[in-house]
Amino acid sequence: MKEHILPPPAPANAQEQQKSRCRMASWYSIRTLCAILIINVFIWFHGSAFVPRTHHNSSGKQTDLEKFEKCSIDTFVGTGMEFLKTAERPPLEEYVLRRNNLAKALVADSVDAFVVEPGYTFSYYANVTQPQWEVWEPEERPFLMVIRPTKNDDGEIVANTTFLVPSFEEVRARLLKMPFEEEIEAVPWEEHWNPYVTLYTSGIWGDKLSPVLMVDEEIRDFIQRGLDNHGFTVVGLSGEVEAVRQIKTERELGILSAVNTGTVEAIRAMRTCLYPGVTENEVAAVLDNTMRAAGFEPFFDIVEFGKSAALPHGGHDGERKLAPGDFILIDVGSHLYGYSSDVCRTFYPSFFPNPPPPEYNLTEHLAVWTLVLDAQAASVKAMVPNATAASVDIAARSIISAAGYGQYFTHRLGHSIGIKAHESPYLNKGNFEAKLRPGMVFTSEPGVYVLGKFGVRHEDILVVREDGEAENLSGGFAVSPWEP
Ligand SMILES: *[C@@H]1O[C@H](CO)[C@@H](O)[C@H](O)[C@H]1NC(C)=O
Ligand SMILES: *[C@@H]1O[C@H](CO)[C@@H](O)[C@H](O)[C@H]1NC(C)=O
Ligand SMILES: *[C@@H]1O[C@H](CO)[C@@H](O)[C@H](O)[C@H]1NC(C)=O
Ligand SMILES: *[C@@H]1O[C@H](CO)[C@@H](O)[C@H](O)[C@H]1NC(C)=O
Ligand SMILES: *[C@@H]1O[C@H](CO)[C@@H](O)[C@H](O)[C@H]1NC(C)=O
Ligand SMILES: *[C@@H]1O[C@H](CO)[C@@H](O)[C@H](O)[C@H]1NC(C)=O
Repeated sequence: MKEHILPPPAPANAQEQQKSRCRMASWYSIRTLCAILIINVFIWFHGSAFVPRTHHNSSGKQTDLEKFEKCSIDTFVGTGMEFLKTAERPPLEEYVLRRNNLAKALVADSVDAFVVEPGYTFSYYANVTQPQWEVWEPEERPFLMVIRPTKNDDGEIVANTTFLVPSFEEVRARLLKMPFEEEIEAVPWEEHWNPYVTLYTSGIWGDKLSPVLMVDEEIRDFIQRGLDNHGFTVVGLSGEVEAVRQIKTERELGILSAVNTGTVEAIRAMRTCLYPGVTENEVAAVLDNTMRAAGFEPFFDIVEFGKSAALPHGGHDGERKLAPGDFILIDVGSHLYGYSSDVCRTFYPSFFPNPPPPEYNLTEHLAVWTLVLDAQAASVKAMVPNATAASVDIAARSIISAAGYGQYFTHRLGHSIGIKAHESPYLNKGNFEAKLRPGMVFTSEPGVYVLGKFGVRHEDILVVREDGEAENLSGGFAVSPWEP
C-alpha cells in the first residue's frame, strides 16, 4: 500500500455528508432542505447517467476524481483480496528446481550447456534482471551464465552452473546473492583476454572437442558469434530447453493466479465507482493506484471508451470523456513478484442501466459482446494437451467468422505469459508447430474491432491441465457487460 494521494478526511459517503449538513441547518428550513437533498442523493445514485455533474474543489471538498479513486481503492480492499493467498515470492528451492529441470532438458536435447546473458531468462534461472546487472546501459563485456547437466550422488541429473565474468566484476557478481546453495563458480576474464577462449579453456568441458551450447533467444549476436568462432558449436533455443520456461511450476501458477485474478478484481471494483465525464487517462491512473493497494506494480494500461476501442493497442490521446452508452474497454497488466498479469474486460459502468434506455440502440454492441465471449469459451475448450497452437486460435476465429465478423478479428487469439506478458508459444492460426503441454499458460483474448464504431475484447488467463478443461487463472470469465 503506497503512494496514493489521499483526499482530506471526509464522511464515508455522499449520504452521510448530506446528513451532517442537514443537522447544521436551522430547524425551520430543515424539512424542505433535506427533502431537496434526499432527491439529489437519489438522482446521484440512480440517475446520474443523465444528470451533468459539477466538479467542486473548495473548502476541502473532494473532487469527483478524488471520490472515484477513494471509492475504487476502498471497494477493492473491501473484497478482502483473498486472491493474494496463492502467491509467495519464489524461494531459493524454486530456482534450484528450474535449473535442474533445465539440466534434464539439456540431456534430452543432447546439448552440453545452456548459455544466457542478463535478461528475462537469466532472471528466471538466477533472479537477476538485466538492469540489476547492467545498471547504466547494455554492457559490452560478456557476463554469461553457463548451465551444464551433471549427475549428483543419487544418480539424478542436476545443474552445475558457472559464470563467465569480467575479473574486476567478480565481487559484484557475488554481491548479487543469486539463489544458489553453494558459492557461485566464476571463470574470470581479464580485460585484454578473449572471453570466449577463456571459457573454452576453463577446464569445465572435460575432453569435449567442440561443446554444443544452446543459447537463449535474447543473447546478442556478437556473443553468439564469439562463442561460435572460438571452439564451441552454437545452436539456437528450441526443443525441451525452450519448453522449461514455457511449462509453469505450481509456484509460478500460484503467482500468476494471484496477479491476474487481482487485476480483474481491481477492474470490477473500479467499475462500480465510474462517473460520466471521467477521461480514459483518469481511469487508467485510478486503476493503477487501485492495483497498487494489493502490492502490484502496474506496467501497462489500455483504457478506451466507445469508438476509441476499435484500436486494439490504443493510440488515441486518452482524453475522451465517458458518456452513457459507451463500451469501456480496459486491457491492463501489473507485476507481482516479477510475474505479469494481462487481462481485458469490455463493459458498461454501473451507472448505465440494464437494459439500456430505448434511445440507445445497442443491439449490435450487445450481440458482438456475446459473440466474443462465445469465441473465448470455444478456445478454452480447445486448450487441451497435444492440441496445436493454431487449433486454439481457429476454434475462436471460426465462431467470429461464422457470424460475419471474421475481418474484424484482426490479431492472434493469444500468447503465453509468465515473467513476460508476451511469451512463446503464440496462439495464431499459422502456428501448427507448437503443441500445448500441461502447465503451459495462455491468454485467450478474441476481439472484434469496427473502426469508427466500437471494439470488444475479453481476455483471460488459462493453464493447460493434463486431464479435463483448461483452468482459469483470472478468477472467472465475464458474464455480461454489467458483470464483467
Ligand atoms: C483540490 O484543491 C487542493 C487545494 O486547494 C489541491 O491541492 C488539489 O490538487 C485539488 N485537487 C484537484 C483534483 O484539483
Ligand atoms: C530475488 O530478488 C529479489 C529482489 O530483487 C529479492 O527480494 C528476493 O529475495 C530474491 N530471491 C531469492 C530466492 O534470493
Ligand atoms: C561443477 O563443475 C565443476 C567443473 O567441472 C566442478 O569442479 C564442480 O565440483 C562441480 N560442482 C558440483 C556442485 O557438481
Ligand atoms: C438498431 O440497430 C440495428 C443495427 O445495429 C438495426 O438493425 C435495428 O433496426 C436498430 N433498431 C432500431 C429500433 O433502430
Ligand atoms: C500427447 O502426445 C504424447 C506423445 O506424442 C503422448 O504420449 C500423450 O499421451 C498425449 N497426451 C494426450 C493427453 O493425448
Ligand atoms: C475460475 O477459477 C476460480 C478460482 O480458481 C474458480 O473459483 C472459478 O469457478 C473458475 N471459473 C470458471 C468459470 O471456470
